[in-house]
Amino acid sequence: MVLTGKRIVLGVSGGIAAYKAVEICRRLVDAGAHVVPVMTAGAEHFLGRTTLSALASEPVQTDLWNATEPIPHTRLGQSADLILVAPATARVISAYATGLSTDLLTNTLLATRAPVMVCPAMHTEMWEHPAVVDNITTLRRRGVHVVDPEQGRLAGGDVGAGRLAAPDRIVQAVERLFTPRDLDGTRVVVTAGGTREPIDAVRVIANRSSGKQGIAIARAAAARGARVTLVTTVGAPGLHDIEVVEVETAAQMQEAMQACAPAADVIVMAAAVADFRPKVVADRKLKKADGAPDIVLEPTPDILAGLGDAKPAGQILVGFAAETDDLLDNAARKLAAKKLDLIVANDVGAPGVGFQHDTNAVTLLQPGAEPRSVGLRRKDDIADAVIDTVVGLRSATTSSPGPTSAIDPEPTP
Ligand code: C5P
Repeated sequence: MVLTGKRIVLGVSGGIAAYKAVEICRRLVDAGAHVVPVMTAGAEHFLGRTTLSALASEPVQTDLWNATEPIPHTRLGQSADLILVAPATARVISAYATGLSTDLLTNTLLATRAPVMVCPAMHTEMWEHPAVVDNITTLRRRGVHVVDPEQGRLAGGDVGAGRLAAPDRIVQAVERLFTPRDLDGTRVVVTAGGTREPIDAVRVIANRSSGKQGIAIARAAAARGARVTLVTTVGAPGLHDIEVVEVETAAQMQEAMQACAPAADVIVMAAAVADFRPKVVADRKLKKADGAPDIVLEPTPDILAGLGDAKPAGQILVGFAAETDDLLDNAARKLAAKKLDLIVANDVGAPGVGFQHDTNAVTLLQPGAEPRSVGLRRKDDIADAVIDTVVGLRSATTSSPGPTSAIDPEPTP
């Protein structure tokens, strides 16, 4: 986890969105960070100290003057890996932009060389006021990271721009700050979820895939700088910066992959694609009264094998092998047969592994290399291990021109 051991000062200033700081704090702690909470006097009108103290790694601090710690503002700022202000009110943004230190939070913001991320939250009129716009421009110019507010319901029932960014967006922005950008400029296509093959107008043949591992890989690649397309049968919240192509059947997934594969530098086929589909699909609901239907199946196209046959030079092709028996033999056979650079084998019969779990355990196989096992851990961490291996494969093939070399790099936004 990229936040493990990172010391984050979480500054909370006085807006109604202060309650969301609790969720942000909890998620940062869950992600391994050491969170030091600092509240302004205004924040205390909206949020009790006890709540934040209970969830953070240390009790809340509010005071510039405290008996046990003569100069907390310098200690907090000097030892931090990041100062995150969420919510950041117009007052705190203004004080920080003009270098005014009036309380522990604004002192800490000035007495640090650590990166600073501010997450503004205020009424639309305030957010659009020229003074606030100028202050935000100043902060951005100085290298401060700004997580823009969203449109939505504000205090008092008003609706407009200025609502604090969702906690998952803020935590994702923090994680990205600490994540190596070793896939910058690459195009990565990931598939996720299980395909659903129709029997009639309402019934499908499906499988147990939740799509969690594929989505975690798409997120990990995006966090590391890749432009990611996710071809998926399942949705997920918070897929910011990822192009999502929703599909349902193997045929639709194949069509989507044929469209985006040629320009991809990396393809990860994590989807559980049905191997068979009904040969005839009834366009109406089959009637129970007509008795059990004989469903004749036909094979689906093997999308990955097709991509292996058409693979441009330099492209990295990654497949998955979900097996209940002879895991490594089957995975090694598929690695060769489908012309893959890497196969991620998982024993879906083992406890906590594979379909629907939040955890997974895999073995990574590459042609000509010893298999490498990655023990039971969160699917996010498995995703990082897969991406680490892909990055290693890419650096080993940098001498051969990949698809990207033929394409003008897009400017970073
Ligand atoms: O041969 P098997 O289905 O076990 O191979 C698994 C790998 O092949 C996975 O990466 C899966 O996404 C892909 N696959 C495919 N098209 C199919 C079946 C599997 O691309 N019809």
